[in-house]
Amino acid sequence: MYELRINIPNGREFFIEQICKSQNLKVGVELGVWKGRTFKHLITSCENLTLFGVDAYVAQPLNSGPETWQPGENGHEWDHQHYYEDMLQFSRNYRNRAFIIKDFSSNAAKFFANESLDRGGSGKLDRLVKWTFRATAA
Ligand SMILES: C[S@@+](CC[C@H](N)C(=O)[O-])C[C@H]1O[C@@H](n2cnc3c(N)ncnc32)[C@H](O)[C@@H]1O
Repeated sequence: MYELRINIPNGREFFIEQICKSQNLKVGVELGVWKGRTFKHLITSCENLTLFGVDAYVAQPLNSGPETWQPGENGHEWDHQHYYEDMLQFSRNYRNRAFIIKDFSSNAAKFFANESLDRGGSGKLDRLVKWTFRATAA
């Protein structure tokens, strides 16, 4: 039995950064972006990474939980419009590789499944980016 010790600062964003860098990952999708703690960190620290962030950015009062993302829940504002606009603004500075999709992950996942990026040529990434612009403009 071996214990693997890696010197990574606490926090999921640093852990995922190490995975991206060590595996030289080029494309990723984050389902559930919120304020972009992980998204922003990965975009600024992994220069070769194109990242799609999917978040519905709406309260979900009918969600069976444990969370419903309504204002005040768990002490958070859940000001979805503000979070969304902030993420759009951030992404504008990384136009070619940071994309925010305002949609439910179940909808977005259908497209990502069809356009699986681990097979085929780079045309798939182009189509994905075009679809993202259409989805974001809708
Ligand atoms: C805990 S936060 C995500 C935190 C983020 N991954 C980070 O590292 O900081 C959860 C987010 O998921 C979003 N969300 C919840 N259900 C969703 C769904 N079905 N589709 C898309 N987004 C969803 C919520 O709007 C919320 O912003």
